[in-house]
Amino acid sequence: MKHYLSINDIDSLPNWVEEAKSLKQNPRKDSALGKDKTIGLLFFNNSLRTRLSTQKAAMNLGMDTIVMNFGSEGWALEYEDGTVMDQGKSEHIKEAAQVVSQYCDIIAIRAFAGLTDKEKDEAEVVLNGFKKYASVPIVNMESSVGHPLQGLADAITLAEQNTKPKPKVVLSWAPHPRALPHAVANSFTEMMQLQDADFVITHPKGYELNPEITKNTTIEYDQNKAFENADFIYVKNWSSYNEYGKVLQQDPNWTITKEKIGDAKFMHCLPVRRNVVVADEVLDSNQSLVIEQANNRTYAAQTVLKKILEGLK
Ligand code: CP
Repeated sequence: MKHYLSINDIDSLPNWVEEAKSLKQNPRKDSALGKDKTIGLLFFNNSLRTRLSTQKAAMNLGMDTIVMNFGSEGWALEYEDGTVMDQGKSEHIKEAAQVVSQYCDIIAIRAFAGLTDKEKDEAEVVLNGFKKYASVPIVNMESSVGHPLQGLADAITLAEQNTKPKPKVVLSWAPHPRALPHAVANSFTEMMQLQDADFVITHPKGYELNPEITKNTTIEYDQNKAFENADFIYVKNWSSYNEYGKVLQQDPNWTITKEKIGDAKFMHCLPVRRNVVVADEVLDSNQSLVIEQANNRTYAAQTVLKKILEGLK
C-alpha cells in the first residue's frame, strides 16, 4: 500500500481488523520492521489521541518519530500554482513537501476542514498537496472529509464487542455549541458500508451528510425510532453539509441519555462534551466503549504503518 488517505484504501476490512487484533496481543512483534525508518507527524490542528496513538504505533514498529505543529510553528503554506506570493504565505507546498520527504520515510498529516468553503475543503488541498509533491507515502490523520484511522479503530472495537451475526448500529447526530467537521461521521459511514450490519443514520432535518458518502444508507429523522433494538450507538456532532458549516440548531432533546439508549453500547471518537453531547450517566457506565475505542487507535495506526512499511521493503 502506498498511501492511507481514506477508508477506500482498505483492501479487506476483516483482514485488517484481524491484523490489528493480532498486533494488540503482541504489539512489539514487528519491532524490527521500522528500524532506521522515520515518520513525520504534521499537525495543522490540535490532537490528543491521534498524536499519541500514532507515535505509539510507530514506536511499536521500531520507527523514529518527528512531530511538528505545522499550523502554528511552520511557515504558512501556499497551495495554488502560479501565485505571486507577496501576501501572508511564506512557503509553497512544492518545496515543503519535497523537503519533508528527505527527512521522513512516511508523512502523516492532520488538516481539518475550514467549514467556510465547501469546494476548497473537498479539494483536500493540504492532504492532496503533500500527496502530489511528496516522494514518500502519506497517511491521513484526519482531513477535511475523512478520519480513516478513527474509522478503522471503530471497526476493531465493533469486532471485539459484537456478539451478533448482523448487529444494529446507529450513527446519531448530537448537539454541540461549535460547528464541527463531517470527517468522523463520513469515515464511520464508509466503514459501516463494508460491514454486514443493519446500519442507520439519525439526525435532525438539515444535517444530511454528503449523499455521495451516505449513498443508500437508511436515514431516520426520529432518533428514538432509530435507537429501537440498537446494539451500538455511535454519536457525533457535525455541522450542516447543505448549508455548509452552519450550526442550524442545538436541540438538547438529541443529547444522549441512558433512557434513550437502553442497553445499547455507546461509542464516540472523543473528545466529547459531557452533558451536551452525552449525559455523564452514559459516559461513566459500562455501556461506554470510548476508552477502548481510543486504545484501538494505536492498533489501527500500527496496522496501517505496518502495511506501508512492508511496501517500502
Ligand atoms: N478522535 C481523535 O481523533 O482524537 P484527537 O482529535 O484527540 O486526535
